[in-house]
Amino acid sequence: MTTVGIDAIEIRTGKLQLDLAETFAPAQDEDPGKYTKGLGLHVSSFPDVYEDIVTMAANAAHRLMERKGLTPDDIGRIDVATESAFDNSKPVSTYVAGCLEQVYDDDFHHANKGERKFACIAGTQSLDDAYNWIRAGRNRGRKALVIATDTALYARDDPGEATQGAGAVAMIVDENPDFVELSTDQGFGSADETDFLKPNQQFPSVDGKRSMKVYLARMREAMEDLERAGVDLHPDDFALIPFHTPFPGMVRKAAALGYRHVCRDTDVELTLAEEIGRQPRREEFKTQEQFFDAIEEYTDALTETERYEDWYADTIEPTLEIAREVGNWYTGSVHVARVAGLKHALEHDRDLTGAQLLVASYGSGAQAEIHAETVADGWKAEIEALNVDDQLDRRYDISFAEYERIHDVHNHDTDDYADVEELTTPSEEFVFDGWGRMGE
Ligand code: HMG
Repeated sequence: MTTVGIDAIEIRTGKLQLDLAETFAPAQDEDPGKYTKGLGLHVSSFPDVYEDIVTMAANAAHRLMERKGLTPDDIGRIDVATESAFDNSKPVSTYVAGCLEQVYDDDFHHANKGERKFACIAGTQSLDDAYNWIRAGRNRGRKALVIATDTALYARDDPGEATQGAGAVAMIVDENPDFVELSTDQGFGSADETDFLKPNQQFPSVDGKRSMKVYLARMREAMEDLERAGVDLHPDDFALIPFHTPFPGMVRKAAALGYRHVCRDTDVELTLAEEIGRQPRREEFKTQEQFFDAIEEYTDALTETERYEDWYADTIEPTLEIAREVGNWYTGSVHVARVAGLKHALEHDRDLTGAQLLVASYGSGAQAEIHAETVADGWKAEIEALNVDDQLDRRYDISFAEYERIHDVHNHDTDDYADVEELTTPSEEFVFDGWGRMGE
């Protein structure tokens, strides 16, 4: 069977950065360790005044198309995943296509365009849609352009403020992909939840602590569903496990839960039993509470074993390297984690061709999806072609006063855009000029 997956990927960060330890913590009167150690974040990315979800998406897609030698005629589908949309009718993909058409001789008149919404998991759902479109044979040899773009901002003084970020990820989905092949197996955990909402408002209403519990519950259900699909989830079978990363501390918790879950009744649990005992079983306890306490104690002991620490260092830690420097990108976050893990592998001469990845996506509201991928032959060239480090290094470091102004601006109010000076200089890129018109 022909393989289908991500042929190429491109990342575009907002051009400003807020240092959480140096700039944000003192202004909040907080210990920097809360952000750097507790949440695991160092820096947040922000868009300058001439950047928004459309320009970041178009700039990522443009670099990707140039790099792969594509023109609009090669693309049969454009899906944009976002939870920062400013239009309830016209999809963001039409704005992005409008930008790109300014620099190509042909156009996207025969491409199917849409917008996907389900909080952060929408990026992966768009990938799934593209995969299904190709598998159904409806693509006529054309490729899908899938973009995840967000300005993940919270209201000032919301606990989520420290986890903000902004950026776009553009992906080409195609047959015989160069980067990763998607597997047909998926597991889902989905339930009607109200821990994180944006009902016609710019900033989310969030119950942060509850959102973490919901994240873990849906991830566990998705693992169970994948196992029901007949997939054997042994921790040693996956080279990397990119998770949706609202902040690395969340992934630290999810990884421990996942490891414990999949080790149950395996050789790993038996080996570890001598050191930390067997996992508690529900039937061994009179109350649910006693069982949960025992599970928590076991998990704490598990994460301190050398076996777990080695697994975490190889499989999880590399996927967090970019997130620590950019914050939460909502729909793009899990796709940034995949890139971070593979980039780390390349930099450390780890050949992952043919290796399995387990990709764990999540969106509030709430749904988790876990699926496996195989690293394709051309992954090294795809990672080498990225300019992520360069983009991160070139960001302008904002003061707290500048942060306050920039935060106020990114509320889709065009009058504000007109009043605020840009902090960086645009160079051969799509920009938002304040009146809804895009130019290069
Ligand atoms: P908070 O309540 O201000 O923070 O905000 P905290 O007091 O819980 O501290 C955070 C961690 O830092 C804790 O670690 C502290 O112990 C530690 P933990 O106990 O959890 O392991 N800490 C320190 N460590 C070292 N030195 C110190 C120190 N001080 C404290 N000095 C919260 C945390 C997550 C609630 C907040 O950031 C928030 O509301 N975030 C937004 C919601 C969110 O990200 N939820 C994650 C799951 S939902 C999700 O991922 C979906 C999402 O991406 C949206 C979508 O799908 O569209 C958000």
